[in-house]
Amino acid sequence: MRIIRHPAEIRRLTRRAKQQGKRIGFVPTMGALHEGHLSLIRKARGENRLVVVSIFVNPIQFNRASDLRSYPCTLQRDARLVAEAGADLLFVPSAKQMYPASFQTTVEISNLSRPWEGRFRPGHFRGVTTVVSKLFNLVQPDIVYFGQKDAQQARVVRQMIRDLNLDITLRVLPTVREPDGLAMSSRNQRLSTEARRSSRVLFQALQEATRLIQWGHRRENEIVRRMRQVIRSVPGTRIDYAAVVDPETLERMRRVRRPALILLAVWVGKIRLIDCCEV
Ligand code: PAF
Repeated sequence: MRIIRHPAEIRRLTRRAKQQGKRIGFVPTMGALHEGHLSLIRKARGENRLVVVSIFVNPIQFNRASDLRSYPCTLQRDARLVAEAGADLLFVPSAKQMYPASFQTTVEISNLSRPWEGRFRPGHFRGVTTVVSKLFNLVQPDIVYFGQKDAQQARVVRQMIRDLNLDITLRVLPTVREPDGLAMSSRNQRLSTEARRSSRVLFQALQEATRLIQWGHRRENEIVRRMRQVIRSVPGTRIDYAAVVDPETLERMRRVRRPALILLAVWVGKIRLIDCCEV
């Protein structure tokens, strides 16, 4: 596996691969890799002749400077894992290369970026869609791989691909979970021992909501009330949002129809976790 640091170099290599008729699979990440990322890379390996992974902690998608500062950076370990998972190229640009002083263009998906994460992290999705557009332009992928855990992100990127007529297939792969159900996330590394124990409550709340929907409950406010009860029973938790939404529009469903997407964002101690599941 080769590590590429310059945008011009990744563009040169992927352009050459394209001319040779190779299908390119791409997994964008911010590093601090876990089994969730590796499942995306392995899937990409199985479906493409060239597999590109990027690691770039994108400053413009963080709305709190402290969150950006404390984002784990484990490049050496990450590079080994990416190579073991079968990638050909690892693209690791610097913030200066991605956003030179003269940079002034952003990409924004209006409606889908507004609720849920968008409300609690203003500007977050503009940062995501801007960097993802730049990365797509540099890598020229045929297939891109995203995790279902960040369901709103995947939905926003799908919309961007559609709206901008990008010739890219989006694959969204299932969330990989710890044995107790906690969704794998780079942020889990920062949970204290006690918070780590408490954090399984997110999955328990999702399971409770799933059960209620499967039993035929249809009133969203009752399902959400029950999720909130489950979470609040664990000290040190604070809910940003809990909702049952339409997977396409991300609008709250007053009366739940299936398929439905259950969304959660919860602070556990000092760490904010998100999770979701489709039912
Ligand atoms: O999901 C992430 O890790 C990031 O939001 C992404 C897609 C790599 C863009 O920076």
